[in-house]
Amino acid sequence: MQCGSAGQKRANLRSVNTPVGPELQPAIDALRAGGLCAIPTETVYGLAANALLPDAVVRIFEVKRRPAFDPLIVHVGDTAAAQRVTTSWTDAAHALAARFWPGPLTLVLPRSEAIPDIVTSGLATVGVRVPAHPVTLELLRQLDFPLAAPSANPFGYISPTTAQHVTDQLDGMIDYILDGGPCQVGIESTIVDCSGPETTVLRLGGLSLEAIERTIGQVSVNLHSSSRPGAPGMLTAHYAPSKPLRLVHSLIEERSSEWQQGRVLAWQNIPEGLSGEILSPAGDLHEAARELFTLLRRLDSGEGSFLIAEQVPDTGLGRAINDRLRRAAAGSTP
Ligand code: TXA
Ligand code: MG
Repeated sequence: MQCGSAGQKRANLRSVNTPVGPELQPAIDALRAGGLCAIPTETVYGLAANALLPDAVVRIFEVKRRPAFDPLIVHVGDTAAAQRVTTSWTDAAHALAARFWPGPLTLVLPRSEAIPDIVTSGLATVGVRVPAHPVTLELLRQLDFPLAAPSANPFGYISPTTAQHVTDQLDGMIDYILDGGPCQVGIESTIVDCSGPETTVLRLGGLSLEAIERTIGQVSVNLHSSSRPGAPGMLTAHYAPSKPLRLVHSLIEERSSEWQQGRVLAWQNIPEGLSGEILSPAGDLHEAARELFTLLRRLDSGEGSFLIAEQVPDTGLGRAINDRLRRAAAGSTP
């Protein structure tokens, strides 16, 4: 959308570096003035604007080069604030919010009139979450408006899990980067649609399906209707490095001599003769989730003309990791 004017703005702003720091005040000032600020969360860094100001939200889409039909998540400080931007809550929504907020969970609920169309791409629902990061919670407490924030990466690329990742890609295009250290979960929030009588997981993420089902019982999973709702499946290729990436079940079992020209992203071990990065030598899925995007970025900017990633066990956070790796691999022909 509006690519011309976005390009113009980027070009105009490029001469000035974006300040980075742990101080809240520049973030408060930028957001109050309708500007853009990168914010730390426990999942990934977000690119935030005042969710109630359409002109501020438009700039998020421009800077990210994000299609206008992909709705944004609204971040709030507590459940009461979430209720102000939504209307009816199911029992499941109440139970999930009470158990997992603040945390890596986004609830899709019917939106209230407070939320402008641009935030939800005109949908009748809004994704809302209370992030579990002390710095951003304090920021939300000091603001009297919610924050619309997608992940702070150019559309389709790997999400940022450090302030440096944000600088690497958005320097000069936004007003401030609030540095809250490396993200502790490392993978985006789990999105759960509670807007109707049935509860449906739309995106696997930092909160495991098992944890959700322990709280509200069995739920359905429909991973095609989260991104670009209304155009199911179009976002199969996402979270992608610039190098071609191939996904395999096992590096050891499927190993090929051609892989020496590439680099691997291994689950626990790198087979002899190959080089690359390891998600978790100890086999810990939390560690793997936390490291995933940092290692993908490192491999993408390092040597090797293509990448081979190895699936992790498909349980707990492993499901979300495998989902991101599948999307990163989609469209690649290494
Ligand atoms: O962990 C996270 O969720 C991070 C941090 C910054 O909070 N945010 C994030 O936002 O991952 P983003 O924009 O990269 O991904 C949001 C996803 C998109 O796939 C979008 O389609 C979906 O949420 N989404 C947002 N509102 C929705 C709605 N009303 N119905 C269905 N899907 C929705
Ligand atoms: Mg994203």
